[in-house]
Amino acid sequence: MRMISPIIFTVSLLLSSACHAAVQEFCVADLTAPESPVGYSCKKPETLTVNDFVYSGLGVAGNTSNPLKAAVTLATVPEFPALNGLGISLARVDVAAGGGGAIHTHPRATEIVHVVSGEITAGFISGANKVYYKTLNKGDIIVIPQGLLHFQLNSGRIPAKLYVSFSSASPGLQILDNALFANNLPTELVAATTFLDIAQIKKLKGAFGGIG
Ligand SMILES: *[C@@H]1O[C@H](CO)[C@@H](O)[C@H](O)[C@H]1NC(C)=O
Repeated sequence: MRMISPIIFTVSLLLSSACHAAVQEFCVADLTAPESPVGYSCKKPETLTVNDFVYSGLGVAGNTSNPLKAAVTLATVPEFPALNGLGISLARVDVAAGGGGAIHTHPRATEIVHVVSGEITAGFISGANKVYYKTLNKGDIIVIPQGLLHFQLNSGRIPAKLYVSFSSASPGLQILDNALFANNLPTELVAATTFLDIAQIKKLKGAFGGIG
């Protein structure tokens, strides 16, 4: 007991401070302290100013010169610590014409996509493999239920600008092409698990930076 009680004490301290958002109004993350399973511990309230609650990182378009022709600029806890414990976050997504088609999922969040400019064809695939997709224009929004595979393809001729909001301060992101073609999963295993041709897999590994 004597051995473990300091650990229990430390963990309960971490948990109680990380959970402050539930009993207090906010818990701006102290990124210098370790993250616990329920989030970061709080910066001391007396040190906070309005600037802790303002983030100016989304004003500039991301660089879309990449294989996905898309750039995601995040406002999640690491970029914007005030979101810690509040269950919400935002990202700016810039998509060049023809880009943004890469299918992906956010394991921990439902998403609302808001088209600020340009035209996208956006959709998701349900667990029953039914496809829901539509072409959206300026002002339109679409909701993507949590965890489902989805895409936002720029189907117009000009760059598209989107704001996407998430029902989590830490939505997570997994891009299917990166999962399959941007790592060292051996080509034979990719072929065996996807039924794709070896030549096509090698081409995609080349494009996405995978090896093996
Ligand atoms: C955009 O990214 C490409 C590829 O990494 C790079 O060559 C280019 O300089 C970048 N452009 C800007 C404006 O940063």
